Amino acid sequence: APVAVLISGRGSNMQALAAEQGAAYRIVLVASDRPDAAGLAWAREQGLATFALSPKGIGKAAYEEALDAALREAGAEWIALAGYMRLLSDKFVARWRGRIINIHPSLLPKYKGLDTHARAIAAGDAAGGCSVHVVTEELDGGEVLGRAEVAIRPDDTPERLAARVLVEEHRLYPAVLKAFVRA
Ligand code: GRF
Repeated sequence: APVAVLISGRGSNMQALAAEQGAAYRIVLVASDRPDAAGLAWAREQGLATFALSPKGIGKAAYEEALDAALREAGAEWIALAGYMRLLSDKFVARWRGRIINIHPSLLPKYKGLDTHARAIAAGDAAGGCSVHVVTEELDGGEVLGRAEVAIRPDDTPERLAARVLVEEHRLYPAVLKAFVRA
């Protein structure tokens, strides 16, 4: 299955997805709203097709039109958000309905949005983790496809917890993507 990966930053989940390419899916495009994203340089070095465009200056609508055109030109049929820090418009989500997934660093439905690890620690939760979900118009609100739990330690900090959860993200995301595009 042809998949596009959308990133804004370092792209470690994109790298995990790239490592697991094979019969189930191929990455046909890595796209970023930040032309300086570290993950974009890595993708280019790997010989992956890339698309970089900032919405700054042109506005969200024109940005998303160009992104949509690039995705179609690349032959993408599925979109995996991997540290993509921009909200997709309702129009874009509707165009790709049921074909966009995201990885989020909490055990959804808990802690949508930002600062998930700090919030889990502050709440005294026994575990944090990550979730892969379908993207809908509601932020971090679509159907959950898979989750991985990580125990919270008494001396945990958001940084330490994030590092342990990230290891699980890299296992979870390729596995869920494979199952999702197969279904
Ligand atoms: C990950 O923690 C992911 O769950 C969240 O943003 C972070 C992206 O990290 N959505 P990376 O760019 O994949 O390294």
